[in-house]
Amino acid sequence: MCGIVGYVGWRGAQEVLVNGLRRLEYRGYDSAGVAVADGKGGLEVHRAAGPLANLVAVLPDGDGTGTAGMGHTRWATHGPPTDRNAHPHRDATGRLAVVHNGIIENFAALRAELEADGVELASDTDTEVAAHLVGRAFDADPDSGLTAAVRAVVARLEGAFTLVFTHADRPDEIVAARRSSPLVVGVGQGEMFVASDVAAFIDHTRDAVELGQDQIVTLTREGAVVTDFHGDVARTRPFHVDWDIAAAEKGGHDFFMLKEIEEQPVSLADTLRGHLVDGRVVLDEQRLSDQELRDVDKVFVVACGTAYHAGLLAKYAIEHWCRIPVEVEVASEFRYRDPVLDRSTLVVAISQSGETADTLEAVRHAREQKARVLAICNTNGAQIPRESDAVLYTHAGPEVGVAATKTFTAQVVACYLVGLALAQVFGTKYADEVAREYAELESSADAVARVLEAVVEPTRALARDLAGSKAVLFLGRHVGFPVALEGALKLKELAYMHAEGFAAGELKHGPIALIEQDLPVVVVMPSPKGRAILHQKLLSNIREIQARGARTIVVAEEGDETVRPFAEHLIEVPAVSTLLQPLVASIPLQVFAAEVARARGYDVDKPRNLAKSVTVE
Ligand code: F6R
Repeated sequence: MCGIVGYVGWRGAQEVLVNGLRRLEYRGYDSAGVAVADGKGGLEVHRAAGPLANLVAVLPDGDGTGTAGMGHTRWATHGPPTDRNAHPHRDATGRLAVVHNGIIENFAALRAELEADGVELASDTDTEVAAHLVGRAFDADPDSGLTAAVRAVVARLEGAFTLVFTHADRPDEIVAARRSSPLVVGVGQGEMFVASDVAAFIDHTRDAVELGQDQIVTLTREGAVVTDFHGDVARTRPFHVDWDIAAAEKGGHDFFMLKEIEEQPVSLADTLRGHLVDGRVVLDEQRLSDQELRDVDKVFVVACGTAYHAGLLAKYAIEHWCRIPVEVEVASEFRYRDPVLDRSTLVVAISQSGETADTLEAVRHAREQKARVLAICNTNGAQIPRESDAVLYTHAGPEVGVAATKTFTAQVVACYLVGLALAQVFGTKYADEVAREYAELESSADAVARVLEAVVEPTRALARDLAGSKAVLFLGRHVGFPVALEGALKLKELAYMHAEGFAAGELKHGPIALIEQDLPVVVVMPSPKGRAILHQKLLSNIREIQARGARTIVVAEEGDETVRPFAEHLIEVPAVSTLLQPLVASIPLQVFAAEVARARGYDVDKPRNLAKSVTVE
C-alpha cells in the first residue's frame, strides 16, 4: 500500500526513481510523483494522478542535475486520487518534500493546529501535515539538521507511517522514518537507496538493511546512519537479496500474474525444501520450546482475503493430523470480538506481505493476551514475522501481480508443514508418517506442473467464452469449499464480475434461488475414490443446477467418468491426495479469472481500487 523509493548517489536521481517506481507500482497506482533536489538550491517536484505512465509523460526530458530525491506511487487513503493529492507533498516554503506510506491518525488535530497558525494546506491528505511540521522545525533550527527536525516531528505523529524527506538545502541527504509500514535500505557503491521493497533497487544492489520499528535513517552517498526515535544508535538487520532481477520481470508474459501462475511448481518446491531435517519438520525461526508447543490446546488461524482461504485449509490438515481444535477467522474481526486466548493458544498468522494491518493487529492482540504466535509469511523480516514467536517463510519469490496466486498455494503447503510440525510435537504422528506426508507434499510440485501443461489453454478458451457473463457461482465441499471461495475472489477482484463461492451443501438452503438459465456455475469435485460419499452428493448438486439451466463447469479428477454427462465443460486435474486437491484445483480457477479479466480488457496485474499490501485497517 503505497510504494516509496529514495536515492542519494552519483546517478541522475530521476531515472533511478522512476525505474524504482515501476517495480513498486503494484503497491498502489492511484498517482505517482518524484522530488529531486536539483543541486542548485532548488527542489523539482512532479506529480500526476493515475498510473506511473502519466507521471513519466510530464517529466522533463533528460536526467537533470539532481543526484538525490525520492518517489512515490499512491494507494489513496485520505483524499481522492487527484494531482493535488499525489505525493510528494511540500511545506509552505516549497523547499521540503515528503512521501508517505501509511496513515497519520491524528492528522485532523495537527491540521487544525497548522491552520490556526495560518498555514494553508494544499491537499486533502494526512501526509501534508508532516511536510509542514518538519519544514517548520527545520527552518526554526537549520543547524541541527533535517534528521533532528524529523525526529522532533515523528514523536508527535500517531498511526502507522513511513516517511521520506528531502530538503533543497540538503541536496546530498535524505531522511526516512519508519513506524509499521516496511522500509529497506539498499547499500551500493557510493550510493544509497531506501524503498518499501527491495525490488525498487535490485537493479543496483542486493545488499540491504531492514529498518526496524520506530527507526530513522539518514542517507548520504557515504552510507546510512540509523537511530531510534530518541536519537540513540539503533540495531539493524543486514541481509542479501538472493533472488535475481528476472524474478521481478515479466519473463515474456503479458502480465506478472500469468508468469506467477506458471511459477507455482517452483514456489511449492522452494517452500518445502529443507524443512525435513533428520526426520523432523523444522520451521525457519523457532522461539518456542517443544514444551510450550505441547501446552497448546487450541489453534486460531488469522488472515485476510486469499491468505484466509489458505487458513481454511490449515484447519482441515491440523485438526486431522493433530486432533486439536482449530478456528479460522478473518483477521479484521478477530480482536474486536474478544476471543478467548491464553498462553496455551497458538495463533497462526498467514500473510504474504507480512505487513497487512488487520493481521498485524490480530497478532498484537494475541500477544497481549499471552498467546503464542506463529507466522507464515513470504517477506523476509516483515513486521508480522518480527513480532511472532515462530516463523515459516513461503519461498514463493516476489509476487508483483496484485492478486495472490503462487503465494496462495505456497501458503497452503506451509500450513500443512505447520500441521506436521505440531503433530510430531504432540505425538499424534510418528516420524515415518511425517516423512511420508512430507514426501506427499513434495509431489504437489509435479502435479501442479501437469495441471499447468494440460489446462491452461482450454481454460483460456473457456474464459473468453464466458467473459460476457453477468455472474459466476463456485461450489465445493470439504477442501473444495475454500477453493470455491478463492476462485470467486479471484474473479471478483480481477474481472469485476459478481462471483460467489458456496459450500455446495448450502445450495439448497438459499443460493439455489440464484440459478437461472445460462448462469455459469463452477463445481470443484472431490475425488470419486478418496471422498466417495461427498462425490455422490456433489453429483446430485450438479444435476440440480443443470436441470435449472445453468452452464456447468466442472473441475474433476482425471478419469472421473461419472461427472462427464453433467459437465458442459470439464477441467480434468491429476488424482492427488485429499489435502493436495486444493493445489491442483485452484490453478484452472486462477487462469480462468486472469483470462476473463484480460478478455474484458482489464489490467490483470493492477485491478482497480486494490493494492498488494494493505497497511491500513
Ligand atoms: C487477493 C489478495 C488479497 C490478500 C490479502 C492479504 O488476491 O491478494 O486478498 O490475500 O490482502 O494479504 P497478505 O497475505 O499480504 O496479508
